[in-house]
Amino acid sequence: MLSEIQNVGVIGCGLMGSGIAQVCAQAGYGTVVREVDEGLLEHGVASIHKNLDRALAKGKLTEPDRDAIADRLTATIDLGDLSECDLIIEAIVENREAKHELFSTLDGLCRATAIFASNTSSLSITELAAGTGRGDRFVGLHFFNPVPVMPLVEVVRCGQTSEESFKLALAFASSLGKSPVACRDNTGFIVNRLLVPYMLDAIRAYEQGVGSIADIDTGMRLGCGYPMGPFTLGDFVGLDTLYHITEIMYDEYKDARFAAPSLLRRMFLAGYHGRKTGMGFYDYSDDEPVVSDFVK
Ligand code: CAA
Ligand code: NAD
Repeated sequence: MLSEIQNVGVIGCGLMGSGIAQVCAQAGYGTVVREVDEGLLEHGVASIHKNLDRALAKGKLTEPDRDAIADRLTATIDLGDLSECDLIIEAIVENREAKHELFSTLDGLCRATAIFASNTSSLSITELAAGTGRGDRFVGLHFFNPVPVMPLVEVVRCGQTSEESFKLALAFASSLGKSPVACRDNTGFIVNRLLVPYMLDAIRAYEQGVGSIADIDTGMRLGCGYPMGPFTLGDFVGLDTLYHITEIMYDEYKDARFAAPSLLRRMFLAGYHGRKTGMGFYDYSDDEPVVSDFVK
């Protein structure tokens, strides 16, 4: 735990925010996590408790540890409850306007010394920082899904970020037991700059009849040793999030590699958002996922 940071505020308790809140509380930080309504908050917090209970059942946590982690976690729908936090990590939807509005509100609400971080996958940290009066205390902290398992955090500095804030952000990521890598503020940073075109290319390969969804997934898993094929991974990330990322990256690079294939766009519009909605490239209604009717 870093002495400079006692309390961390995490905004958004979806797929990423819940995982980020979990690892912060696990590392010993007082953690306040905020959602927009009670139902979503309960859903996110339940997933944290499920993960902690699973770790307890596997003997990776003791019962007192599990209870102490749960005690360090405060769940709220009131943004005002984050006013005393030393570090705020934003993990809300991948939408430029929503993030700008949030950071602008936080700027007036939080301590002048608090550091702001965004978990954005593709938006510019420079742009988000410029919407606040604390560009020197603004960084990207890009975690990977599932957060409790994936060791990487991309720590992003923009032109405005001070050396002190950047070093603190690197140290904070290490204090969570993660391995940080330093990134400049390029859209998609390191990993998504390479991963997103790969996932989009898999969809285009399917559209062009290269192979079935199941076979392309199997090919990349068994042929390259990837833990998940590209369609399973897309469903895991969320096809709504992937679609928003492609729009932002295409807008930035104007390169066809980042453009959303029409199948992805149609799935996004139809609400086939992957595991989170139970339907994506696969149908998750039963224990064993099967290729969904939408893409057959
Ligand atoms: N939340 C928390 N823990 C989870 C989990 C989840 N959703 N899913 C699995 N785990 C844990 C399990 O409990 C298990 O823990 P222990 O080792 O302590 O027992 C461990 O992970 C391994 O799980 P499993 O044996 O059940 O499954 P697996 O070996 O197939 O691993 C996986 C699951 C880690 C998710 C693996 O499939 C994987 O690495 N997939 C690829 C994930 C990936 O590429 N993520 C990056 C996405 S891109 C991104 O994040 C950036 C962006 O901006 C979009
Ligand atoms: P998600 O849809 O699972 O969760 C986002 C949550 O934010 C929702 O529950 C929503 O209700 C909440 N929210 C929206 N506005 C809010 C506000 N003003 N205050 C509090 N909560 C608010 O999305 P996610 O997958 O968790 O993605 C969150 C962020 O993390 C995005 O910027 C995304 O690009 C990034 N990211 C996603 C992944 C991934 O694999 N899904 C990986 C790395 C980074």
